[in-house]
Amino acid sequence: MANPRRPVAGQLAQVDNPDPFARPVWRSPVYETPWAIIWAVQLIRLIWRLTWFVFTHPILDAVAAVLAYDWLWLGWPGLVALVLLIVSALVGLRLLLPDWFTRLVSKPARNRWRTWFYRRHWHAAMTLGGLAPMYRKRVLVPVLLGVRASRSVDLVTVRLATGQAPADFADRAAGLAHAFGAELCRVRELGPGMITLEFVRADTLAEPFGALPFPTEVNLAALPVGRAEDGGPWLLRLLGTHVLIAGATGSGKGSVIWSAVRALLPAIVGGWCQVWALDPKRMELSFGRDLFARYADQAADMVKLLEDAVAVMHDRAAQFGGITRTFTPSIVFPFLVVLVDEMAFITAYQPERDLRRRAEAAIATLTSQGRSVGVCVVGALQDPRKDVISLRNLFPTRVALRLDESDQVDMVLGDGARDRGALADEISPLSLTGAGVGYVRLDASPDPVRVRAAYVTDADIREMAAIVASAGDAA
Ligand SMILES: Nc1ncnc2c1ncn2[C@@H]1O[C@H](COP(=O)(O)OP(=O)(O)OP(=O)(O)O)[C@@H](O)[C@H]1O
Ligand SMILES: [Mg+2]
Repeated sequence: MANPRRPVAGQLAQVDNPDPFARPVWRSPVYETPWAIIWAVQLIRLIWRLTWFVFTHPILDAVAAVLAYDWLWLGWPGLVALVLLIVSALVGLRLLLPDWFTRLVSKPARNRWRTWFYRRHWHAAMTLGGLAPMYRKRVLVPVLLGVRASRSVDLVTVRLATGQAPADFADRAAGLAHAFGAELCRVRELGPGMITLEFVRADTLAEPFGALPFPTEVNLAALPVGRAEDGGPWLLRLLGTHVLIAGATGSGKGSVIWSAVRALLPAIVGGWCQVWALDPKRMELSFGRDLFARYADQAADMVKLLEDAVAVMHDRAAQFGGITRTFTPSIVFPFLVVLVDEMAFITAYQPERDLRRRAEAAIATLTSQGRSVGVCVVGALQDPRKDVISLRNLFPTRVALRLDESDQVDMVLGDGARDRGALADEISPLSLTGAGVGYVRLDASPDPVRVRAAYVTDADIREMAAIVASAGDAA
């Protein structure tokens, strides 16, 4: 007998109710799909997905085919032998050609694994982080275009949803870093509608490292002075620029200065580069006096030295003017680096007005006209407040080591540098983790890069001075 409660297929059914006075209740009929059809649809779906997977993963197919072929023809021993062969080939490649191993194996593998990781969390992180706006009842999720992973930094390229700006991501950078398990997230603008999210997963600069090996040749446009956050070298340009190194006391300005001098050593020995040093504190540079063609630590001597540099500059300008516009250093006309350890001592803090005025005028003249005749000023500064360094804008290359206050960052690196990720005021005051760490803006990009200078010890400086002294004796 048919179940009276069961609705009749094909028409509205009245729900059975034993109460003869109850109002009739009508419900839509329910059709039960046979299990066979459900299974058939699921099977077809699975086959379709598998086929699609096979088509879209040719390398995996090839590997599976080789393994299957091997197993069918040689059985388990053959399979084990093949796996051992592959593993030993990889180990051999790693040991003999590490660069090739990185390029062919570890880098692609890391990129794929990190891409998979970001794709898996992307939708949730965008939606919960408030970065997926609604439009006509549809959620617009920014598109993850690609991931380039290095050992400690992942660069995730993103196409913004319509109406979004990079600032929307910058405001939520902390949330994104937590969502993807990174220490820090920086937002870089790539072009219209495109950004790169830079996820820093580990602080590669936390450990100090010693002086870099002696260079064999000198490129004045790219002196190796330390390491950048992505593991590459930090290359400092001296040719055609002037360098300002700003940092609170104990921030490691000395290590930047000495690393630069170390990178110049072959040129100093070769005689085509001279360093003139001004050492108002008599603590930092006096150590390596032999390295410097001229050295001064008294206010009057320092001002005289600066004015002599100006004279050299004018002399060169008079000789080369109208003949050549590009300066090539030589033994007759060496590249001249004027190194000032604490600039404020001879400018702002100098009690004698006349000396102060002359020093400021000389530095301004050197920085505004020295570039094209091979004169470069490298100045260190503890306090970058405006009244201390009105000359700041004359230094095209600036390095911000640890600073005391957040608004000093833009004073040193230029407007907007802190918003773009130069958190120089958050560098650790512990010398082990923070000394020598800083931010620089490289030529190619407005985005600051985190770097750390190599630590040149007193013994290293003594060794450098001995090399220059022995080269001088031999000459
Ligand atoms: N690159 C570095 N790596 C690790 N430790 C460093 C580095 N540079 C400096 N230090 C440590 O930090 C201390 C202070 O460094 P340094 O004297 O260079 O600072 P500074 O900025 O010149 O300070 P001041 O303005 O007082 O002269 C050093 O004694 C050294 O122990
Ligand atoms: Mg110092």
